[in-house]
Amino acid sequence: MSLLLTAETPEDLRLIAARIGSLCGGGEVVVLSGDLGAGKTTFTQGLALGLGITERVTSPTFVISRLHTHPSGGVSLVHVDAYRVGSAAELDDLDLGADLSASVVVVEWGRGIAEDLSPEGLDIVITRSDSSEDERRTLMVSARGRRWTELISDPSGWVS
Ligand SMILES: Nc1ncnc2c1ncn2[C@@H]1O[C@H](COP(=O)(O)OP(=O)(O)OP(=O)(O)O)[C@@H](O)[C@H]1O
Ligand SMILES: [Mg+2]
Repeated sequence: MSLLLTAETPEDLRLIAARIGSLCGGGEVVVLSGDLGAGKTTFTQGLALGLGITERVTSPTFVISRLHTHPSGGVSLVHVDAYRVGSAAELDDLDLGADLSASVVVVEWGRGIAEDLSPEGLDIVITRSDSSEDERRTLMVSARGRRWTELISDPSGWVS
């Protein structure tokens, strides 16, 4: 089962992601896929806001992964760009520099290699509209684990 959401603007996408972030308690892995410029980093920025992380989140392309610790001991964000990571084994070998049970790990380009990092979390595919002047993005959200499966089966409480 998956949940289909639409974001008309980047702000909209950040808001959806912030709501997801505010539901995270640590230990989740959010796997993001979608073409270049789909909005994976934009999503991660919103999720960080939802966690209460004030530090600026930018694309970690040249470092593969970046740790954003929470300013007051809350859930941290580990932001991974797996574009150049070839396999789950290679991802496993990276030192993500954090206690993953107290963090949310967001993996751009993570499909097929990052799902096994945690049994809990979301797999999100972001798609652009066909028309280039249209800012709309579609998010296909699927869940891993019982809590997230319940959350996406009844999104009325957390998504407007
Ligand atoms: N509805 C929308 N949601 C998200 N981003 C949008 C939207 N409409 C336009 N944009 C623009 O699309 C771009 C998305 O860039 P972003 O870096 O988030 O994509 P990405 O998927 O991380 O790309 P990459 O594959 O290079 O990592 C931004 O410039 C953003 O302003
Ligand atoms: Mg990106």
